[in-house]
Amino acid sequence: MKNVLAVVGSPRKLGNCDIMAKEISRCIDQPHRLRLLRLQEYDIRPCRGCYMCLFKNQCVIDDDFDSIVQAIVDADALIVTVPTYFLGPNACLKRFTDRGIALYPHAEKLWAKPAVAAGIAGIEGKEGYTLLGVESFLKMLFADIKMRRIVYGALPGEVFFNQQNRDTAAAMAKSLFGQAKSDAAPCCPVCGGQTFRFLDDVRVRCMLCSNAGEIKVRNGRPVPAITRSEHEFFLSLEEALAHREWLMGMKSRFSEHKLQLKEIVLDYRREGEWLKPPPKDD
Ligand SMILES: Cc1cc2nc3c(=O)[nH]c(=O)nc-3n(C[C@H](O)[C@H](O)[C@H](O)COP(=O)(O)O)c2cc1C
Repeated sequence: MKNVLAVVGSPRKLGNCDIMAKEISRCIDQPHRLRLLRLQEYDIRPCRGCYMCLFKNQCVIDDDFDSIVQAIVDADALIVTVPTYFLGPNACLKRFTDRGIALYPHAEKLWAKPAVAAGIAGIEGKEGYTLLGVESFLKMLFADIKMRRIVYGALPGEVFFNQQNRDTAAAMAKSLFGQAKSDAAPCCPVCGGQTFRFLDDVRVRCMLCSNAGEIKVRNGRPVPAITRSEHEFFLSLEEALAHREWLMGMKSRFSEHKLQLKEIVLDYRREGEWLKPPPKDD
């Protein structure tokens, strides 16, 4: 029996993210065990940017991060649902993603786990960068994103006022252990990402894989003709591991430029006055 793990990014019990995840599970046409994990219930501390995880193969922060990673490693497939909070995914998702370097030691075990993702926004068009945030989360988990969508619903349960969202859940369930389903919206031909930044008149960069190309119009529809480049964010396990090596190489780069870097930063040492949080009672 397959193990399906739903990673839910909402603090609201039985809200739209919960029921969307459960509906996707209901529609999976093979026997499976659904396990759910509410990210907000876990103690995930902010990344300190110390890079110790690169060299120790484990993050030095003592919190619940590893238990989440273990649950993901144990799963055969992932469902991710997250609400939009002020034009982006709820911060719990980003907090986890920020710890992504500590996921590299698990890259082989995690690589290409099938995943579907729904970002849930209350107001049509007000989802901001939610989809990119969920995609980045799954990218750092080395997952194979079979389908991703933004769906709308504000009040808890409202997501299923709309039959189309149940259909989306069914399509996600079908693609999870089957064929990936691409969106009708123009997407990056290299990685499937749907968020682009205009570079000039016709060139755009995919904000997920960071490859660039021209926007062409075919049959009256915009088509991003993105091509692969050295600049891209990894697309294969080998590239992911190479990216890790590159990060590790930064240590020798740092040693090489240490004096010059020190000179730059020390010049700013005395500027301004740092505010500090008020002391806690206990
Ligand atoms: C603090 C907060 C900020 C929100 N910001 C947005 C927003 O920027 N855009 C939007 O469309 N919906 C926004 N929403 C609405 C939620 O995305 C929406 O209600 C969603 O269905 C919540 O999912 P849940 O029921 O699983 O918690 C916000 C909700 C909250 C509580």
